[in-house]
Amino acid sequence: MNWKKLLLLGLVLTAFTATNLWAVEGGNSRKGKALFKKNCKSCHGVGSEGGELTPTTNTMKQWDRFFEKNTDKHPGDVFKTVSEKDLQDINQFLYDHAKDSPAPATCG
Ligand code: HEC
Repeated sequence: MNWKKLLLLGLVLTAFTATNLWAVEGGNSRKGKALFKKNCKSCHGVGSEGGELTPTTNTMKQWDRFFEKNTDKHPGDVFKTVSEKDLQDINQFLYDHAKDSPAPATCG
Protein backbone atom coordinates (compact mmCIF):
# COMPACT_ATOMS: atom_id res chain seq x y z
CA MET A 1 0.00 0.00 0.00
CA ASN A 2 1.44 3.40 -0.89
CA TRP A 3 1.29 6.41 1.40
CA LYS A 4 -1.61 8.02 -0.44
CA LYS A 5 -3.81 5.04 0.10
CA LEU A 6 -2.72 4.88 3.71
CA LEU A 7 -3.58 8.54 4.19
CA LEU A 8 -6.98 8.04 2.62
CA LEU A 9 -7.67 5.06 4.83
CA GLY A 10 -6.70 7.12 7.85
CA LEU A 11 -9.09 9.89 6.87
CA VAL A 12 -11.94 7.47 6.31
CA LEU A 13 -11.32 5.82 9.67
CA THR A 14 -11.18 9.17 11.46
CA ALA A 15 -14.42 10.32 9.86
CA PHE A 16 -16.10 7.04 10.72
CA THR A 17 -15.02 7.19 14.36
CA ALA A 18 -16.08 10.83 14.66
CA THR A 19 -19.54 10.03 13.27
CA ASN A 20 -19.94 7.13 15.67
CA LEU A 21 -18.85 9.15 18.67
CA TRP A 22 -21.32 11.84 17.71
CA ALA A 23 -24.11 9.28 17.61
CA VAL A 24 -23.19 7.90 21.01
CA GLU A 25 -22.62 11.33 22.55
CA GLY A 26 -26.09 12.61 21.98
CA GLY A 27 -29.31 12.72 20.12
CA ASN A 28 -30.72 15.43 17.93
CA SER A 29 -32.50 17.95 20.12
CA ARG A 30 -34.48 19.54 17.28
CA LYS A 31 -35.86 16.19 16.18
CA GLY A 32 -36.41 15.29 19.83
CA LYS A 33 -38.76 18.20 20.28
CA ALA A 34 -41.04 16.99 17.50
CA LEU A 35 -40.79 13.40 18.74
CA PHE A 36 -41.63 14.47 22.28
CA LYS A 37 -44.77 16.22 21.00
CA LYS A 38 -45.73 13.25 18.91
CA ASN A 39 -45.03 10.46 21.42
CA CYS A 40 -45.37 11.99 24.87
CA LYS A 41 -47.62 15.03 24.81
CA SER A 42 -50.80 13.02 24.32
CA CYS A 43 -50.46 11.87 27.93
CA HIS A 44 -48.29 14.71 29.23
CA GLY A 45 -50.09 17.85 28.08
CA VAL A 46 -51.87 20.27 30.42
CA GLY A 47 -54.44 18.33 32.43
CA SER A 48 -53.62 14.98 30.80
CA GLU A 49 -53.49 11.64 32.59
CA GLY A 50 -49.69 11.49 32.98
CA GLY A 51 -49.51 15.03 34.33
CA GLU A 52 -48.05 17.95 32.41
CA LEU A 53 -44.44 17.41 31.44
CA THR A 54 -42.05 19.92 29.89
CA PRO A 55 -38.25 20.01 29.73
CA THR A 56 -38.19 22.20 32.86
CA THR A 57 -40.03 19.58 34.91
CA ASN A 58 -36.63 18.05 35.70
CA THR A 59 -32.95 18.89 35.91
CA MET A 60 -30.47 17.64 33.31
CA LYS A 61 -29.32 14.92 35.68
CA GLN A 62 -32.87 13.82 36.47
CA TRP A 63 -33.69 13.48 32.77
CA ASP A 64 -30.60 11.38 32.10
CA ARG A 65 -31.35 9.21 35.10
CA PHE A 66 -34.95 8.73 33.99
CA PHE A 67 -33.93 7.63 30.49
CA GLU A 68 -31.17 5.39 31.83
CA LYS A 69 -33.00 3.68 34.62
CA ASN A 70 -36.68 4.40 35.02
CA THR A 71 -38.26 3.93 31.63
CA ASP A 72 -39.15 0.25 32.28
CA LYS A 73 -41.36 1.36 35.16
CA HIS A 74 -43.20 3.86 32.99
CA PRO A 75 -46.88 2.98 32.39
CA GLY A 76 -47.88 1.73 28.93
CA ASP A 77 -45.55 0.56 26.20
CA VAL A 78 -44.36 3.85 24.70
CA PHE A 79 -40.76 3.17 25.77
CA LYS A 80 -40.87 -0.18 23.99
CA THR A 81 -42.52 0.97 20.77
CA VAL A 82 -40.49 4.16 20.21
CA SER A 83 -37.07 3.36 18.74
CA GLU A 84 -33.89 3.63 20.75
CA LYS A 85 -32.68 6.41 18.49
CA ASP A 86 -35.88 8.43 18.79
CA LEU A 87 -35.76 8.08 22.57
CA GLN A 88 -32.20 9.37 22.48
CA ASP A 89 -33.39 12.43 20.56
CA ILE A 90 -36.20 13.01 23.05
CA ASN A 91 -33.74 12.59 25.94
CA GLN A 92 -31.45 15.15 24.28
CA PHE A 93 -34.24 17.69 23.80
CA LEU A 94 -35.42 17.39 27.42
CA TYR A 95 -31.83 17.52 28.70
CA ASP A 96 -30.87 20.55 26.60
CA HIS A 97 -33.82 22.54 27.93
CA ALA A 98 -34.02 21.22 31.50
CA LYS A 99 -34.63 23.66 34.33
CA ASP A 100 -30.93 23.93 35.20
CA SER A 101 -29.78 24.00 31.56
CA PRO A 102 -28.46 27.12 29.82
CA ALA A 103 -31.69 27.26 27.78
CA PRO A 104 -34.67 26.18 29.88
CA ALA A 105 -37.87 25.74 27.91
CA THR A 106 -41.41 25.19 29.06
CA CYS A 107 -42.68 24.53 25.56
CA GLY A 108 -42.76 21.09 24.07
C1 HEC B 1 -50.19 6.37 27.28
C2 HEC B 1 -49.93 7.57 28.05
C3 HEC B 1 -48.49 8.02 28.20
C4 HEC B 1 -47.57 8.27 27.22
C5 HEC B 1 -47.74 8.15 25.71
C6 HEC B 1 -46.37 8.75 27.89
N1 HEC B 1 -46.57 8.76 29.24
FE1 HEC B 1 -45.21 9.30 30.67
N2 HEC B 1 -46.51 8.83 32.12
C7 HEC B 1 -47.81 8.38 31.93
C8 HEC B 1 -48.43 8.13 33.23
C9 HEC B 1 -49.85 7.62 33.45
C10 HEC B 1 -47.45 8.44 34.21
C11 HEC B 1 -47.56 8.30 35.72
C12 HEC B 1 -48.01 9.62 36.29
C13 HEC B 1 -48.08 9.55 37.80
O1 HEC B 1 -47.41 8.71 38.38
O2 HEC B 1 -48.79 10.38 38.35
C14 HEC B 1 -46.27 8.89 33.48
C15 HEC B 1 -45.09 9.32 34.09
C16 HEC B 1 -44.00 9.83 33.43
C17 HEC B 1 -42.85 10.42 34.07
C18 HEC B 1 -42.62 10.54 35.56
C19 HEC B 1 -42.02 9.26 36.04
C20 HEC B 1 -41.40 9.38 37.39
O3 HEC B 1 -40.69 8.42 37.74
O4 HEC B 1 -41.60 10.37 38.09
C21 HEC B 1 -41.99 10.80 33.08
C22 HEC B 1 -40.63 11.45 33.26
C23 HEC B 1 -42.62 10.46 31.81
N3 HEC B 1 -43.85 9.88 32.07
C24 HEC B 1 -42.05 10.68 30.59
C25 HEC B 1 -42.63 10.34 29.38
C26 HEC B 1 -42.00 10.52 28.10
C27 HEC B 1 -40.62 11.11 27.88
C28 HEC B 1 -42.88 10.06 27.16
C29 HEC B 1 -42.67 9.98 25.67
C30 HEC B 1 -41.58 9.16 25.21
C31 HEC B 1 -44.08 9.62 27.85
N4 HEC B 1 -43.89 9.79 29.21
C32 HEC B 1 -45.21 9.12 27.23
C33 HEC B 1 -48.44 8.20 30.72
C34 HEC B 1 -47.85 8.32 29.47
